[in-house]
Formats: sequence, structure tokens, C-alpha cells
Amino acid sequence: MADLNRVLVLAGGLSPEHEVSVRSGRRVAEALRRLGVEVQTCDVGPGLLGTMSADPPQVVFPVLHGTSGEDGAIREVLELSGVPYVGARPDACRVAYAKPIAKTLVAERGVAVPRGLALPKSLFHDLGAPAVLERIVAMLGLPLFVKPDQGGSAFGAAAVNDASELPSALVGCFAYSDTALIEQQVKGTEIAVGVLDLGDGPVALPAVEIVPDGGVYDYAARYTAGRTEFFSPARLSEEVARAAADAAVTVHRTLGLRDVSRTDLIVDGSGRVYFLEVNVSPGMTGTSTLPLAVESAGMDFAVVCRELAHRALLRG
Ligand SMILES: Nc1ncnc2c1ncn2[C@@H]1O[C@H](COP(=O)(O)OP(=O)(O)O)[C@@H](O)[C@H]1O
Ligand SMILES: [Mg+2]
Repeated sequence: MADLNRVLVLAGGLSPEHEVSVRSGRRVAEALRRLGVEVQTCDVGPGLLGTMSADPPQVVFPVLHGTSGEDGAIREVLELSGVPYVGARPDACRVAYAKPIAKTLVAERGVAVPRGLALPKSLFHDLGAPAVLERIVAMLGLPLFVKPDQGGSAFGAAAVNDASELPSALVGCFAYSDTALIEQQVKGTEIAVGVLDLGDGPVALPAVEIVPDGGVYDYAARYTAGRTEFFSPARLSEEVARAAADAAVTVHRTLGLRDVSRTDLIVDGSGRVYFLEVNVSPGMTGTSTLPLAVESAGMDFAVVCRELAHRALLRG
């Protein structure tokens, strides 16, 4: 462990989640510094590669959310530069970040996913939006949930309880991606399950239950202190908690993730656990669920960050 002494935390990034990433990065950097690790923080920009070659870090800890941070692009560059980094490889990130593809792969392994379809904006132009929308509602029923096929922090995501709300939900969604994922809305208890692999294979952390005050876990509910109540561990029966843990580990393994991930799930009224998506660079802010789960597992967040960086160093 003594070998780890210089880490570069990458935070900020070019996505709409810039601010969240800055907060996550600050938290990781403070945690590592508290343990005596020398930490430099850097944003993604023209200075990054220069900084890395002028003073090469032992390990990069990417805490970038959204496109380029989670889609694998920055990690491709890290691979090229030969500096070890925390987290999944670029190819695994690419698959995990593409929500419809990740859904297909995890469903093949028996994890329940909301029924739905992914449609590009161009298709609505080509076929005529009203005819397409009518068929979607006829096929999937109501209520629905619309979200971009990639992204995070619930940007561009909307519940659709009435068919008349579908067009505006899609317009909101297309502001963030050219392809919309339209799913049956799952009603139930929202949970997030972190997975850590500190050397003995991926292990699920206790599920964290998310109860937003307005019922919707949107951007404001996520990052405004007090707007969401968290139960950590989640108030689930032992059986459902086990199913949620199994689902998160299956997702982590199926998509070939590494070190850390967070799977977002909804448990419906019958106790069935549905996969929504997985994050390869989970939020680490003061209102994020992964640090809460780490604490509730009786672990120290700073020590976990150091272990993750140390593992990357050993790999490198
Ligand atoms: N099929 C669905 N049914 C009900 N709610 C959903 C569904 N998909 C997503 N949500 C809600 O939208 C939020 C954002 O969706 P998610 O897929 O986790 O994307 P993000 O990457 O933005 O976190 C979730 O936290 C959940 O509250
Ligand atoms: Mg999510």
C-alpha cells in the first residue's frame, strides 16, 4: 500500500453532468489526501495530456460522469498513455453506456428489464410521428417512461402517464440524445446497488433505497441536500435484497466491468427486480448512493478509494 503516493483525479468533463463530476472528484480527492496520498485534480481539456506527460501520475482515478467519461472515450486515451486507471476498460464502458444494448445483454442472463424499444429521432420524421406514437402506446400501454439511450442524472428523462404527454417527453429526450428509449414505467421502490471488486471478485454493497420527496428522482432531487430520503440499507426483504445483489453482480460480470459499478434498479410491487441501467463511474458526491452504501457496509469511503487506486496500480 505504501507504493501508492500520486493519484490524478479526473473530474469535470464536457457532459451536462460537469458540476456533479466536479463535486464527486473533490470528494474522492479529499478522501485520498486524508490518507496521505498526493492528489492532483484535472479536468478534461487541452491541458490534460500535457499535465500527464509533464508529471505522470501513478494512477488515474476517473470520476467523470456522462459522455466521454462513461462511454469509454477518455479511457481509450488513458490506455494509449499507458497510465493505469480505476474502473472498467473502454470497450466495456461503451457497452454499459449504451442503455438498450446493456439491457439486451443483461436480459439474456435472466435479469428482468422493462419492456421497451429504442427509436432514433429520424424515424419519427421518416414515418410520421403520430402513427409511430399510436403504435407505441398500443404495444407497450401506459404509463411509459422516456429517456435518452445514453446519459445520466435523469437529464431528458420523463414519465408519461397519458398518451398526450408522449410527444413533449420525446422532444425533451432528443435534446440529450438522437435516440430515445421508451419503456414501460415500472412502479415500485427505486434502489441503487454498488458493486466493488477489491481483489476477490465483484461483491454487491447493501442496496440503497431512494425516496425523492416529489416522487421523481430528477436532477434537483439527486443533488439538493434534503430533497431525497435514502434508506441504507434499503427496506427490502432478505429475499428481494439478495435478488437485487445478484442482479447487480450479474450486470457487472456480464458487461465485463471492473473495480466499481452502480446498478440502478426498481423493485415492483411483487418483489421483481428490474434493471434500469448501470454506471461505470458512479456519483461520489455527498448525496450520492455509492458512498452511502460503502458506509452502510461498514467500510471507510477513503480506504475504498485508496484500495481501488492501489488495485489499478498493481494492474499497471
Ligand atoms: N422504466 C422505468 N420506469 C420507471 N422509472 C424509470 C424507468 N427508467 C428510468 N426511470 C427513472 O428515471 C431515472 C433515470 O433513469 P436511469 O436509466 O437510471 O438514467 P440516468 O442515467 O439518467 O440515471 C431513474 O432513476 C428512475 O427514477
Ligand atoms: Mg440512473
